[in-house]
Amino acid sequence: MKEHELITLPKISDPRGNLSFFESGVHIPFEIKRTYWIYDVPGGQVRGSHAFKKSQEFIIALSGSFDVVLNDGNKEIKYNLNRSYVGLYVSSMLWRKLENFSTNSLALIVSSVTFDREDYIRNFEEFKKLKNEPL
Ligand code: TYD
Repeated sequence: MKEHELITLPKISDPRGNLSFFESGVHIPFEIKRTYWIYDVPGGQVRGSHAFKKSQEFIIALSGSFDVVLNDGNKEIKYNLNRSYVGLYVSSMLWRKLENFSTNSLALIVSSVTFDREDYIRNFEEFKKLKNEPL
């Protein structure tokens, strides 16, 4: 598995309405320990701007669209999420922010860990130092 990767989920098209789903260990490469969602984001606001030491995440725009900007300490890549059947896998130790939220967008995020303040790295310089440290 790459450090970040778009994953296209099953989409069961139906005249009654479409249905998509994902399962731990089948469509996403970790066991889900927590689900949270971000919504009612005022225009121009940015969420995230941190890295996780251990947490892996899978992020989907269930409604609307937004950008996920990832930085590995050396380079930045931006993903625009705008389909409810395509999610972004994000490994641990990647600086990430969510921005450019459309009106009424809904970001669903599943994590490989239960909530732990100690898992956050909130200082970018500290992140870069840890990321580039030889193992
Ligand atoms: P934070 O992760 O900083 O938000 P974001 O990265 O999206 O900008 O979380 C904001 C607040 O919510 C912070 O006080 C911690 C709390 N929180 C929980 O209690 N449980 C959770 O699962 C998450 C993600 C956040």
